[in-house]
Amino acid sequence: MKKKLAIITLGCQMNRSDSEWVSGLLADDYDYTDTVEGADVVVVNTCAVRDKAEQKFFSLMGRLGPMKSKNPQMTLCVGGCIAQELADGIVRRAPLVDVVFGTRAIDRFPTLLKTYQETGHRQIDVGESDDYDDYPMRRSSAVTGWISIMRGCDNRCSYCIVPTTRGAEQSRPMDTVVREAVELGERGYKEIWLLGQNVNSYGKGLVPTADFATLLARIDSESSIPWVRFMTSHPKDLSDRLIDAMGSLRSVTPALHLPIQSGADRILAAMDRGYTVQHYFNRVERLRRAVPDLSLTADVIVGFPGESDSEFEATLVALDRAQFDNIYLFKYSPRPGTPAATLPEAVDPDVAQRRFEIVQRRQKEITGQRLAARVGEETVILVDGPSRKDDHRYAGRTPQNITVNITSACDLTGQFVPVRIVASRQFSLEGESDTSGISERSSLALQGVRE
Ligand code: SAH
Ligand code: SF4
Ligand code: F3S
Repeated sequence: MKKKLAIITLGCQMNRSDSEWVSGLLADDYDYTDTVEGADVVVVNTCAVRDKAEQKFFSLMGRLGPMKSKNPQMTLCVGGCIAQELADGIVRRAPLVDVVFGTRAIDRFPTLLKTYQETGHRQIDVGESDDYDDYPMRRSSAVTGWISIMRGCDNRCSYCIVPTTRGAEQSRPMDTVVREAVELGERGYKEIWLLGQNVNSYGKGLVPTADFATLLARIDSESSIPWVRFMTSHPKDLSDRLIDAMGSLRSVTPALHLPIQSGADRILAAMDRGYTVQHYFNRVERLRRAVPDLSLTADVIVGFPGESDSEFEATLVALDRAQFDNIYLFKYSPRPGTPAATLPEAVDPDVAQRRFEIVQRRQKEITGQRLAARVGEETVILVDGPSRKDDHRYAGRTPQNITVNITSACDLTGQFVPVRIVASRQFSLEGESDTSGISERSSLALQGVRE
């Protein structure tokens, strides 16, 4: 009988994909379980991007500790960005950890685990990556597939710890990525997400040369994946070629996450973002011309050191102008070792909190208005699954990646379903579907979306 593996994933999509890789590496000897109790191996995949994320990890360790004391056979492993950042420093605060593996040591994890189990000696590996091209994934969904197309980040946004925790940017060869997409298409996957910290610079350093627009075009023509999505895009590297590819390739969905961070040029410069507000809006205008009904989302940081009242106001103006469908909003959090952490003029925490709330409120209005404007539309959704509370309620997402809830007597999970939008809520839409003859109609609707 196989042993049991549980993985707790914190942080971003890269971690989610890495967790599927860790699970795949152990698939021969371990079944995957969602429950930590009774698992033989527990892996925590960590995030260091903000102080809150680190606190979340240490409080989780506080809860896992007693579980391990009760079940000493359990092996407790920590991977991801905090593992990379703190290495053996983790053990000082969480002494029950048996294996620490960094973001470039994932392929070595099975060996580290085995060595620990054979010797009882704690294993720590935060070394550099090997030259590998084999990613055995055990995927958590049979509908939506995550594909990492690159690792690391070569940018140096002054607030960000990711370049330290993830290392230098390294693109995976185009043929490997295309092969993975083709294979997922053959297995019936309906949607893929291409992942990287800055997918727009994909291909740098590859021989033969490659770029992201070409990768999208190849996946579009060689795979049968209906919907292709990607994140994250950096405004400074968003080329006309990529915008044109988004507008012309039928599989690429009309949704883009394009972090703006701030609406003030001086703050963008202090953040080392490499673009101006004008450049950002120049990209947005071209995007909206090329991609009809584009949904645009962004990351925004308030309270960056030195952010004045008027610079904060400029961010509000940018939100009104951009009309984002939604944003991920963060209060600046100083990260050790980053250039911004040494800047003077920290914004008072109460001021930062107030700014956070003002932006949140303003965006809530914009999101609400944009959702309300969709009432009456006919579209198609890809159904993620039933709601936890009600078996007859299903949540799906439109090509724009907007959540639509519907009621249905039959299980629609993993299907494309044509819907009419009948109401809007705070962050989602309510749809009605006619589920008679659904497979025929959804394939027609799908063609409508793709052509
Ligand atoms: N590579 C992506 C995402 C990186 S992390 C990108 O460049 O957009 C995701 C988001 O977290 C960032 O876009 C930023 O808005 C936020 N973030 C990163 N470091 C932060 C910090 N120190 N404090 C607050 N927010 C931060
Ligand atoms: Fe961090 Fe900037 Fe790289 Fe994104 S692009 S991961 S914000 S350094
Ligand atoms: Fe967090 Fe690392 Fe992702 S710091 S956001 S898990 S790259």
